[in-house]
Amino acid sequence: MVTDAVVVSGTGLSKTYRRNAELVHALREVSLVLHPGELVALVGPSGSGKSTLLNVLCGWERADAGALTWGAALAGRQAEDLSWGELALIPQALGLLEDLTMGENVSLPGRLTGAPDRGGKAARELMTSVGIDHLADRYPKQASLGEQQRCCVSRALLLEPAIVLADEPTAHQDARWTEVIFTAFRRLVRSGSVCLIATHNPETWEYADRILSMHDGELREGAPAPVH
Ligand SMILES: Nc1ncnc2c1ncn2[C@@H]1O[C@H](COP(=O)(O)OP(=O)(O)OP(=O)(O)O)[C@@H](O)[C@H]1O
Ligand SMILES: [Mg+2]
Repeated sequence: MVTDAVVVSGTGLSKTYRRNAELVHALREVSLVLHPGELVALVGPSGSGKSTLLNVLCGWERADAGALTWGAALAGRQAEDLSWGELALIPQALGLLEDLTMGENVSLPGRLTGAPDRGGKAARELMTSVGIDHLADRYPKQASLGEQQRCCVSRALLLEPAIVLADEPTAHQDARWTEVIFTAFRRLVRSGSVCLIATHNPETWEYADRILSMHDGELREGAPAPVH
């Protein structure tokens, strides 16, 4: 159930990249509020700033201006200090550790946060649910891109974090696995977490409680207007 409580709010977030003489305004005074228990779809054309926003929210990149405020249990914290049990990112480029097996990648948040028990049974159950349990001993390079992405989704969900930021988490999936992954996100938000999910696939919007759209660095509430 979505509540009025605030998990994180961003105000006036701006980010400009310099490409030689050119300035790229990836975020233009973006403000947003995320609430517990909601799945929010972040949509918009390629290059509109979706990944930049997720990267600023998770602390991978720093905004040039604006403020991020964490609510409730995370009040006063910095994004980069949050643990895998608090905030998990599913990066667009996946970011699996190549020297670890797929199983070890999924268990990693448990080991890093001192909850190694989550790495055993819970990791196996997650891998089974997304059809990669038979790949636990393989390295990411020995798996398909879709399988690697489902490994990445499993890693993010292992500790049932309060916040999941997912950057095109079904970009490499067919319809079946897309449904499985979004159903898993829905299950997580039912327990009070928030998922912000950049997605190009309009069929996934039906899973969202709310849609935010980016256009040339600006964020608006609601789906983009249809193109005629
Ligand atoms: N490190 C960088 N240096 C310069 N420009 C960048 C950098 N990263 C992103 N950009 C530019 O910032 C803008 C926003 O990029 P971003 O990756 O956030 O878009 P996106 O909406 O995630 O796109 P996509 O749907 O293709 O993943 C784009 O114009 C992009 O070219
Ligand atoms: Mg992107």
